[in-house]
Order: sequence, then C-alpha cells, then structure tokens
Amino acid sequence: MDKPNIVLTGFMGTGKTTVGKLIARQLNHVFIDTDEVIQERAGKTIPEIFIEDGEEAFRKMETAVARELADQQKIVICTGGRLMLDPDNAAALGKTGRVFCLVATPEEIFERVSKDTGVKRPLLSVPNPKKRIVELMQERKEGYGQFLQIITSQKTPEEIAQKIITIFTADIKLID
Ligand code: S3P
Repeated sequence: MDKPNIVLTGFMGTGKTTVGKLIARQLNHVFIDTDEVIQERAGKTIPEIFIEDGEEAFRKMETAVARELADQQKIVICTGGRLMLDPDNAAALGKTGRVFCLVATPEEIFERVSKDTGVKRPLLSVPNPKKRIVELMQERKEGYGQFLQIITSQKTPEEIAQKIITIFTADIKLID
C-alpha cells in the first residue's frame, strides 16, 4: 500500500481530533495526536513549552515527531494547526500519508475554541482571539490550500469522518 496513513491538518478548532478518532476507530488504525506526543515527551503542556522554551523549540519538536511518524503504518495522525505548513514536515508525513485539510469559518472556529476547556493554544491567549484567528487564517491560507479541502460547516463529525474514509479507501483500491 502506497500511503497507509491518514494525516489531518487544518486550523485550530476545525475538529481534527474528534474526526481523527472516529476515522481511526472505523479503520482500525492507531490514532496519534502530535500535540499529545509532544506534551508527553516534554513532560509539560504546550503553553508551558511556549513560555519556558519558546515557540521555536515547539516547532522543532513538531518536526522531530513528524519525521518519526512518517515511518509508521496504519495510523491516523492529527497534527497541530501549523505542523503541516512546514514544507519538511509536509514532505515527511505526505510520503506515507494521505493529507486532508479540515476547513471551517473564523466564526465557527472562534465558537469551538471558546468552548474548548483544554488549554493548548497559546497563540489564541490574546486580548482579542477572534481578530487573531482571522489574521492567522489569512497568513496560512495559501499553506492550507495545498491540501485536499474538507468543508466541515453544517456537517457532523461522523459525516466528515465518513467522507474522508470514502476518499481514502477509494484511493487505496486504485493503488492496490
Ligand atoms: C497551533 C495549534 C495547536 C498547537 C499549538 C499551535 C497552531 O494545535 O499545536 O497551540 O500554530 O495552529 P491544534 O490545531 O490541535 O489546536
């Protein structure tokens, strides 16, 4: 099988983790969240890494994790919002994984991240997170645009997972 993995990218709050877990369960793949791997390894939370070691250190950890995961098979990788925008990371994970980019509107994203009680998004810990979301999305538009876009608006996580599985399995049949 040419590309045995599924890689989910997209802005914070687009539902990568929820959808990724559903896909992994259905395909009997192992689910891996790069943010979780980094937090476990560092022994601290992402905000702590940003404060104590800086964002650059966090990005280096992301690259190390991306390289390692590229060698594994039958995994669903939920990537931190910027990981796949680094060309080296995208090349590594794209070699063994089919990449899907989850897309949502800034309003939906703001709503979701505001509800999210987990604190792993130091980039949005600013006085006006809504404005920051719009700015960051604009900066990253081209980067995300290189991947297959999966619109999440008005869809349930189950519907999105099913769509990705359909595309993924269709591809594999062609390759097989
Ligand atoms: C980030 C997204 C976060 C996390 C970190 C940086 C980003 O992951 O990796 O806070 O730069 O977009 P999620 O996309 O899972 O929220």
